Formats: sequence, structure tokens, C-alpha cells
Amino acid sequence: MPDESTAPTSPTTSAAETDTPGLDLSLAPTPPMGWNNWNTTQDRPEFNEELVLATADFFISSGLAEAGYRYVNLDDCWAAPERDTDGNLQPNRERFPNGIKAVADYVHDKGLKFGIYTSAGTHTCSPIGFPGTLDHEEQDAALFASYGVDYLKYDNCHNQGRDAVQRYTAMRDALLRTGRPIVYSICEWGQNKPWTWAKGVGHLWRTTGDISDSWESMLEIAKRNMALADYAGPGHWNDPDMLEVGNGGMTDVEYRSHFSLWAIMAAPLLIGTDLRRVTSATMQILLNREVIAINQDPLGEQARVVRSYAGLHALVKRLADGGRAVALFNETEAEEDMSVTFLGLGLEPSGRYAVRDVWSHTETERSKEISARVPPHGTVMYRISAA
Ligand code: GLA
Repeated sequence: MPDESTAPTSPTTSAAETDTPGLDLSLAPTPPMGWNNWNTTQDRPEFNEELVLATADFFISSGLAEAGYRYVNLDDCWAAPERDTDGNLQPNRERFPNGIKAVADYVHDKGLKFGIYTSAGTHTCSPIGFPGTLDHEEQDAALFASYGVDYLKYDNCHNQGRDAVQRYTAMRDALLRTGRPIVYSICEWGQNKPWTWAKGVGHLWRTTGDISDSWESMLEIAKRNMALADYAGPGHWNDPDMLEVGNGGMTDVEYRSHFSLWAIMAAPLLIGTDLRRVTSATMQILLNREVIAINQDPLGEQARVVRSYAGLHALVKRLADGGRAVALFNETEAEEDMSVTFLGLGLEPSGRYAVRDVWSHTETERSKEISARVPPHGTVMYRISAA
């Protein structure tokens, strides 16, 4: 969890002042897809070069890369506790004996992209106490560019109570000055309502506190993020945090709901499990191309909630081909029949539609409405197009 000593700050700068044309929104035309170590390793020693290189290898051998997963991202604890004599961040040599540039080169040689982490504060979030980037923006951005970084996650711990918009904008500008295209992920946990100011500052912003590998955590975060559909679009995404799929704390039904909801909410799909030990059930979820296509749809809409009552939620996402993606999500403990009318989905009510179940990979033709029996904690997800 974020360090409690970090006082929330309130934004003092308006969207108009920060929405400069500088940020290249085309770097994230659809939600970023990739992997980050945090949800599986936290700060433990197994976060090291071997894990990261094996992950890059697995992206290629497993088909994850072909399915669209591209970023291999390091989280907190990659650095040493002190800057070097030139004031540069330096790698923890036990974890990364060959340095970070060597890891980035390896990842790039596979045709993948490489990401790194630091905090908009004096220290990062880990209690071990690694240096942060506040007031070192230029130097650290230049270092990251020299490593070949393609993605930066910028956290919020130890921020000294300083204005969030200024802190996150300063790093945006430092990244721009490097001249290197870098996807910029704002991680201030939704504390300053980044969805109201961060378009044009970062390409994505966390909307909540940290996810953990439990049904309750996933559910709470999903529901908060559902309310923010108006703020997402190409180059500016709500980020309900990284995936827990495969980490063992939820059932496969629950992990399918987690993945379905993140996909239809146009959330970044950052795998958070140790791929060296992944099961085939987990891979079937992560590699579901039809669900990924809904997430990566070029229209870039986040699904809107069209019904939410007694733990039953229907979400609809307009697709670039004029069709719709629909998720029928049952958070209750009982099996439930759920339905939505085509009218309710914004479609011509008298039309006939091809309704494809993207988990069972079966298709039917329907008129008027779609309905499904949804298991407890389950999600049935459809792609709808004109018949
Ligand atoms: C914060 C972030 C997490 C993770 C940790 C690392 O809690 O929100 O996603 O990066 O820091 O210490």
C-alpha cells in the first residue's frame, strides 16, 4: 500500500493550463498491454534479471507477444538505496548484475518494449527506502532515456505534500525533453481525481489504491473504475491497477470476471503473475483474443454501466465496427438470470443481431434482447454485430 506519510494534495491547476499539446497521445492509442513484476514479487529477491529475461522469452514462446502484450515493466526496488556520485539512480547489483540497460536491450532484441518505475517524491513506496525523482526529474528522465525506457510508471509516495499536478507535469515535461517516446503512467491512486486533469499530462492514471489478489479487492476497484467511463479515450486511460490473474487468490471464474471487466473498461492489461509458473487455465484467460480485441478496439471507449442493481451489473462498450461489447457481471453468491434489451444497448430494437459469446466462442442470432444465466461471481461477455 501507499506509504501513509504521503499527504494527499489538491490540484490547483486547471485542465486547460496542463492540457498542453506536448504529450503524444498516439503512443497509447489503445490501452497498454504487458507485464509488471509487482503483483507477484513485491520487493522480494525473486524480482531480478533472471525473472525479467525469462518473462521476455515467455512473451515470445507463449504467443503473448503475438496477442498484443508488448511492455515488460520493472516496478519498485530495481534501484540501489543511494544515488551514485554523479547523482544518478543506479541499479541494485544483486538483482541486476548487468545493469538496466542490458535488460532493456534484451527486451528490445525480442521486439518488445521496456518500462521502469520511480516516484514523484523523495523516496519510492517500498519501506526499504529507494531514492525518488522529485526535484531530479531532468536527470532521471535523461537516465531512463539512455537506458532505452519506453514506459514510465510514476508513483506518489513521499511527495512532501507538494501539488500533484505540478509534480506529474514536471516529469511529463522532463520526459518530453529527452526526445524519446515514453508512455507515461501516472500512479497517484486517484487521490487528486486525475481523470479531471491528467489527459495530456499522462497516457494513463491510476483511479484507486492498490489491488490485491482477492475477490473483495478486485470487486471494489472494478466498481469505482466503472463510474469513470466519461474520462477515458485514446491516449488517456483510466487505470484500475494491474492484473492479479493467475496469482492464486481468486477462482478461475473470478479471474475471468476480473479480465472481462478490465477488458471492457478499456483498462491497461498488465499481467501481474510469474509467467515461469503459469497454468494453462491462466493462459487461456490471458490469451483470449476475442476479449483482448474488445479491450483494444480502436474506438477506445470505456464501457458504460447500463444497469447496476442488487449486485448485477450490465456494461456496454461501443465498438469501432458499430457493434457492441456487453458484459453481464454477477457479483452475488447465487446464479442469476440477467438480460439487456438491444434498445438498452443503444441498438435498433427491431433489428436482428449476431451475438457471440467471447468466452465459450459460440454464436447465436437474437432479436430484442440478450439474456444469460450467470454463475455467482461470474461474467458472461458478448460481442454483438448486425446479423
Ligand atoms: C505503490 C503503487 C504500487 C507499487 C508499489 C511499489 O503502492 O501503487 O502499484 O508500485 O507502490 O512500492
